[in-house]
Amino acid sequence: MDVVVLDFGSQYTRLILRRLREIGASAEVLPGNSPWERIAELNPKALVLSGGPRSVTEPNAPRPDLKVLEAGLPILGICYGMHLLAQLLGGRVDPGGKREYGRATLISYHGPLFEGIEGPQEVWMSHADVVVELPPGWEAVASTEECPIAAMASPDGRFFGVQFHPEVAHTPCGERLLENFLGLVGVERRGSEAKGILSRLIGEIRGRVGKDRVLLGISGGVDSCTLALLLSAAEVEHLAVFVDHGLLREGEREEVEGALRKLGVNLLVVDAHERFLGALKGVTDPEEKRKIIGREFVTVFEEVARKEGPFRFLAQGTLHPDVIESAGGHGAVRIKSHHNVGGLPERLGFELLEPFRGLFKDEVREIAGLLGLPDELRLRHPFPGPGLAVRILGEVTEEKLRLLRRADAIFVESLREAGLYGKVWQAFCVLVPLRTAGVRGDARSPGYVVALRAVMSTDGMTADWARLSHGFLDAVARRITREIPEVTRVVYDITSKPPATIEWE
Ligand code: XMP
Repeated sequence: MDVVVLDFGSQYTRLILRRLREIGASAEVLPGNSPWERIAELNPKALVLSGGPRSVTEPNAPRPDLKVLEAGLPILGICYGMHLLAQLLGGRVDPGGKREYGRATLISYHGPLFEGIEGPQEVWMSHADVVVELPPGWEAVASTEECPIAAMASPDGRFFGVQFHPEVAHTPCGERLLENFLGLVGVERRGSEAKGILSRLIGEIRGRVGKDRVLLGISGGVDSCTLALLLSAAEVEHLAVFVDHGLLREGEREEVEGALRKLGVNLLVVDAHERFLGALKGVTDPEEKRKIIGREFVTVFEEVARKEGPFRFLAQGTLHPDVIESAGGHGAVRIKSHHNVGGLPERLGFELLEPFRGLFKDEVREIAGLLGLPDELRLRHPFPGPGLAVRILGEVTEEKLRLLRRADAIFVESLREAGLYGKVWQAFCVLVPLRTAGVRGDARSPGYVVALRAVMSTDGMTADWARLSHGFLDAVARRITREIPEVTRVVYDITSKPPATIEWE
């Protein structure tokens, strides 16, 4: 094994693993507090200490086995991992330092970690604590305006700490930095793993499913559509069920149904909008909405299974971010219970089949390309399973759905017309349940606020707001307020992830 990643609960641990593997390293994740003997069984050449949600200054903060520091292996500590190195080796971490979330710029850097990296470098931060005193003999090897010790190196050149996250796509020099770290233990670049992943997945599905039947939940997004093609490629018997929960966008049901039928997918469309909207009546809490939606999906699948079954497996296009945000890692905290993970009922009448559980969307898109999914489906913007329910803040009503659908269609149509749809990762509208003042034709006319959200991302783990031009935003705002009289105000969301999430709920 080239690298063991010790996981202290970071949202990004799987991304670290992915990057290391893409570069060409064999790598595995173990819980952060694993005994040294367990780590040594894997015989690693280097260690990475992940970030995490805690502060090393808390009394029971998770720590590695101290033998990890004495094993003589190169160690890279990322964020919380850097704080651990600083604290355990005689430096000092300040929990009251300057917090940084999102973009920061390295103004100076040097040393082996940064070999081949030149000029001002954008890096992505997500931290409250900072290292304020280096361990004896250590050197600060990078700084940003807010953070004088943005990276540090030990005197023997074996231990490194970075405050920013080299594993996220928004740190462009991150891959090179990790490559430089791996260079210390002789690992060389390999590149995309999509082909290897595809044949592994086909083998795993065949082995697990055999002659049993699979019910596949289809959302119309790239993940579940790719899964339909993957199940066909693995030659397992399956029925794809597309549930219209009444929370879809304008024309979406027809679009998805048409595209999938053209691909020859064995598809059943179930209209369940009354059931979903009934169950959501009066509900305002986003966690509760996701749980209700998760439960209703399963109820529909169980009804289909009674008529069309038996099915041993329920297949879902669950991705790694859904799992990690629902608190599926070693000590990771819950950001939100994705309807298809944390929102599932405890007792499920199926075994779950989720081949993409360890993958990110851009990896699934690559696999989709290999399986021949047409670009109109492969490059669709991600759309959350709970649909417009999490884009209407507060209670979901038919009226709000109607308004949001129209506003969303105007925004997306305008992006397409301007040739911008493919340039952003995701773009949508959010209906803010506030009535603000308005004036139309000399009369007072209060109305809703619609927020436009458009972000740039590669995997949804980090995101930056899209720099859409003022002229474009102006045209969209005019069209929305002209065509939807109930909306008096349009705003554009200019926060990155972190600190915000992409969706508003
Ligand atoms: P956030 O809002 O967490 O979103 O930054 C990251 C990506 O995940 C999508 N998302 C969901 N997808 N079920 C889903 O299937 C959900 O409950 C859910 N919540 C967020 C979101 O649209 C973005 O692409």
